[in-house]
Amino acid sequence: MKHASSLSANEILELIFKHLNEISYLREYDDIIRVLADMGRALTSSDRCTVWVVSDDKKKIWTKVAHGIDAIEIDIDSGIVGTSITEGKKIIIDDVYTDERFNEDIDKQTGYKTKSMMVIPMFDKDKNIIGAFQAINSQNSDSAFDVRDMERLMLASTYAADTLVSARLSKEIEDTQKEVVFTMGAIGESRSKETGNHVKRVAEYSKVLALACGLSAEEAELLKEASPMHDIGKIAIPDAVLNKPGRFDEHERAIMDTHAELGYGMINKSTRPLLKAASIVAYEHHEKWDGTGYPRQLKGEEIHIYGRITALADVFDALGSDRVYKKAWCDEDIFQLFKEERAKHFDPLLIDVFFDNLDQFLEIRESLKDEF
Ligand code: C2E
Ligand code: SIN
Ligand code: SIN
Ligand code: SIN
Ligand code: FE
Ligand code: FE
Repeated sequence: MKHASSLSANEILELIFKHLNEISYLREYDDIIRVLADMGRALTSSDRCTVWVVSDDKKKIWTKVAHGIDAIEIDIDSGIVGTSITEGKKIIIDDVYTDERFNEDIDKQTGYKTKSMMVIPMFDKDKNIIGAFQAINSQNSDSAFDVRDMERLMLASTYAADTLVSARLSKEIEDTQKEVVFTMGAIGESRSKETGNHVKRVAEYSKVLALACGLSAEEAELLKEASPMHDIGKIAIPDAVLNKPGRFDEHERAIMDTHAELGYGMINKSTRPLLKAASIVAYEHHEKWDGTGYPRQLKGEEIHIYGRITALADVFDALGSDRVYKKAWCDEDIFQLFKEERAKHFDPLLIDVFFDNLDQFLEIRESLKDEF
């Protein structure tokens, strides 16, 4: 890498754009913090660079330096970074071990020896402090940070602040969504007396099917998170129908059939990937390959792959479980039905994938058994 002090203005901009472009593909807050730190390091003469973030309760600052390593967290009023943040001041120090504010704990933990340090506080548009950029151990000839490093890090911090604010917002939305998903899923389950493990198993089966039929790891994971919501619409079905101990009459059947469209209506407004996937699953998990399903009698590949996958996962699990209206089936009968329904109820390719990966399905079922 080119030494930072010899970068031209154009090269600096290029570096910033390169990193911002990289960040635009990232979703995890931790990853964003790491790329911002990389950017800070490329722009200054530092050996290490860290982005610190103020915690929600404003009592701590934390950072995440690497995958698989826990976040480092320190009190907001401790150390040099803490001073910069609480006082809103930029700080340059040539040798931190001569500075009484320096907290040696992190060096002791990491075995890394800090000498020079530069810290720049970061603010959002309303001038609230959100964190700090910290550069450590200048590689300049005199091993000290200079005004030029300071200017560069300030430039980086303006972009970093914006990026962090929007990343925090989208993380909040995502967290809320996941919570909503599981709360709603849990309500659906408890009311229909299906066990919590039912949706967990359906989630795992769906992921196996997704991967085995060629969807990317990312999509398979998305479907795994979305598929527990397939019966979300059941929360709007009256108890007398939902928990009827015996078989439905035609009228009850018609009421129950609305659960697919009801579920779709509950979540289809969202543009977020997770809820979008969940709304497809809710809408299409009772469609059948030959066009005889509900609610829209879609046929073949008109049915979204998420719908076709969840349909198989759901029925496999429903047949193998006791319900208020029926006893669990034995495996032989389940496999028999799957063979008969190949290219009728189910996507023929998925049935093949199911039998090819039967071991995995049985393993999942065993590890997530219902407990009474
Ligand atoms: P569920 O119990 O989770 O079943 C999901 C799907 O698995 C069913 O979708 C069906 O395709 C399949 N399935 C489950 N049990 C059997 C079975 O004994 N035989 C066959 N051939 N397939 C079975 P379906 O039929 O659209 O039902 C959707 C939901 O409606 C069911 O979810 C269940 O909550 C409810 N339901 C369906 N029929 C009855 C019933 O006769 N009585 C009661 N109380 N609920 C029913
Ligand atoms: C994450 O998005 O991976 C969690 C980051 C955090 O600790 O807030
Ligand atoms: C991540 O947040 O990106 C993965 C979790 C980790 O870093 O350990
Ligand atoms: C400090 O800010 O004094 C300690 C933080 C660090 O060494 O990274
Ligand atoms: Fe359903
Ligand atoms: Fe189900």
